[in-house]
Amino acid sequence: MKIITVKNQTDGANCALDILREKLSQGAKTLGLATGSSPEAFYKALAASDLDLSQVTSINLDEYVGLPKENPQSYHYFMEEHLFRYKSVKEHFLPDGQAVDLHQAARDYDDTIAQYGIDFQILGIGRNGHIGFNEPGTDFSSGTHVVDLTPSTIEANSRFFDKKEDVPTQALSMGIASIMSAKSIVLFAYGKEKAQAIAGMVQGPVMQSLPASVLQKHPDVTIILDQEAASRL
Ligand code: GLP
Repeated sequence: MKIITVKNQTDGANCALDILREKLSQGAKTLGLATGSSPEAFYKALAASDLDLSQVTSINLDEYVGLPKENPQSYHYFMEEHLFRYKSVKEHFLPDGQAVDLHQAARDYDDTIAQYGIDFQILGIGRNGHIGFNEPGTDFSSGTHVVDLTPSTIEANSRFFDKKEDVPTQALSMGIASIMSAKSIVLFAYGKEKAQAIAGMVQGPVMQSLPASVLQKHPDVTIILDQEAASRL
C-alpha cells in the first residue's frame, strides 16, 4: 500500500487525478467509481480537467435499494450531479436498486463487471471499515449482492437525509472480489472519524470484520489521507 498524506481534499484530488492521468495514458478504459463525500473533490477536479473520458466506461460500486434515480440521495443522482453532467463517459453503470428481482440485478451487474473489467477503482471507506457497501463480515470472495446496512452505516449516512428513518436499510453493492479485481485502486479518507478504520486497514490483520483490510493483499493501492485520518498510524 502506498500512503500519501495531504494537506486537504483539493491536494488529495490532484494526487488522484495524476494517477488517473497516468493510467489512462497506459490504456485504462474502465473506471470503478464511488460515492460519498470523500471522492467529491476528486470529481470536481476531474470535471474541471482536460481529461477526455469519452471512450471510458464507468461502473459504480453501489446503490441504495428502493430510492428512485431522481431522489437526490440516490447514487444515480449523486453521479449525475458530481460528474456526468460535466464530463461525459462512453457508458456508465450503477446497480439497479429498484429492480423487482434484486438478486437477478446483482447477477446482471457481475456480468457487466466481468465483461468490462475494472482498470482504475476509486474508493472511500466507512467508519466501520466498509468499502462500497461491503459491511464487516462480508465474505472476501463476494460478488455483487444485497446488503442489510448496519446501524452504524445508517447512522453515519443519515447526515445526508432529513431524518434517520429515511435512510434505506438495504443496498446493492459490488462485492469485495470485484473490487480486488481492479488493476489499480485509490482510496480517499478524510477526518478523524476514519482514523480507526484506517489504522486497522493499514496495520491490523487482514480480516473480514474489517473489510478494507483486504486491500493489504492488492498489488496497486494508493491511500490518500488527511492528517486527521492518518492520526492513528
Ligand atoms: C457510503 C458508501 C461508501 C463510502 C462511505 C463513506 O456508505 N457506500 O462507498 O465510502 O459511505 O462515505 P463518506 O466518504 O461520505 O464518508
